[in-house]
Amino acid sequence: MIVGIPKETAAGERRVALVPEFVKKLKGVSVLVEKGAGSAAGIGDSAYEAAGAAIAADAKALYAQSDVVLKVQPPTPEEAALLKSGAAVVSFLIPSVHADALKALSARKADVFSMNLLPRISRAQFMDALSSQATVSGYRAVVIASEALPKFFPMLITAAGTVSPAKVFVIGAGVAGLQAIATAHRMGALVEAYDLRPAVKEQIESLGAKFVVLDLDAADSQTKGGYAKAQSEEFYRKQRELLGKAMSGADVVITTALVPGKPAPKLVTADAVRGMREGSVIVDLAAEQGGNCELTEPGKTVVRHGVEIHGPLNLPSALPAQASQLYARNLVAFLGLMLKDGKLNTGADDELVRGTAVLRAGEAPEPPAPAVVGGGKQ
Ligand code: NAI
Repeated sequence: MIVGIPKETAAGERRVALVPEFVKKLKGVSVLVEKGAGSAAGIGDSAYEAAGAAIAADAKALYAQSDVVLKVQPPTPEEAALLKSGAAVVSFLIPSVHADALKALSARKADVFSMNLLPRISRAQFMDALSSQATVSGYRAVVIASEALPKFFPMLITAAGTVSPAKVFVIGAGVAGLQAIATAHRMGALVEAYDLRPAVKEQIESLGAKFVVLDLDAADSQTKGGYAKAQSEEFYRKQRELLGKAMSGADVVITTALVPGKPAPKLVTADAVRGMREGSVIVDLAAEQGGNCELTEPGKTVVRHGVEIHGPLNLPSALPAQASQLYARNLVAFLGLMLKDGKLNTGADDELVRGTAVLRAGEAPEPPAPAVVGGGKQ
């Protein structure tokens, strides 16, 4: 069986689905890597060859030979058309967003698994690609903020005087938010954080940050899966007002709030931005889902009322070496559920395999994959 690793073709995508250190972990299979697949992540073809992989000259050759294709982004319809009939594909894929790709994959009678859909149970932690990539985003958001802020993060006592630490306010303490808190704290900032789900209070405090309590009734805030529940418009109105006050003293605001299957809740108003000091920075990690801040322009950095507002897209791609390494580990662990004696048992009786299956031999499985998926980050 041949596991194929194509070069990602989406604009700005620098990650690769497998790194050399995991080639040997795929026991009993041959690994074929498209020429240059790892170059944007700093991994040369020779590193793959040294690990035992073969190199395919181009995408056509790669897809034509691969029984299983591992990708970061879903295949484009053109890539899907190159797929061997009946092959399997594992990638990030949101069924409601990537309908064209699914149609093309269905025509190839493909088995398709989406890492967006992996049930987030304890046993799945090693495979949880949304979490591994959100970790990268949370870290990177703080690096962006620290570069943009015209101030130090840590407190400094120097002969020329004492420099007070930067104040960082994190809204949404899921996987990305917790990593942002940890990173900002390590860099010496004073960190405060807020989440709709009171359950995260302890996690926030264990990372050295202060949990901000807003005078809001969010008793029914969390789904069984641990995600935030959407709230009423009245709730959001009050939340925006209180958040505006809570963040007014912050030098940096990092927003990460998401509700599965919905556009990102708007939590930071233009008035709240106006209430911040000039030179402050907002990094809106929810930009891909429309943004948590009213003034965010996804994919752009803008200055509004003297505040620099970043709406980065695909942040994991900004640290491609380790984002790829973490993602590869997730994929290898996931494939491990189906790999037996060098063959892929796509019908393996496992809730994680069933939960991620979007197509089986080109057909929607029964019951079909959920239209609403968690997080949305990839
Ligand atoms: P996410 O990306 O969907 O949301 C990010 C954060 O935004 C969440 O903490 C959410 O509560 C918060 N949020 C949403 N609306 C908000 C609002 N109006 N105001 C303030 N905050 C708001 O979540 P993510 O990071 O993908 O995961 C969330 C949770 O899922 C985790 O904290 C955990 O409980 C669970 N999880 C479980 C895993 C496992 O057991 N394998 C792995 C990963 C996550």
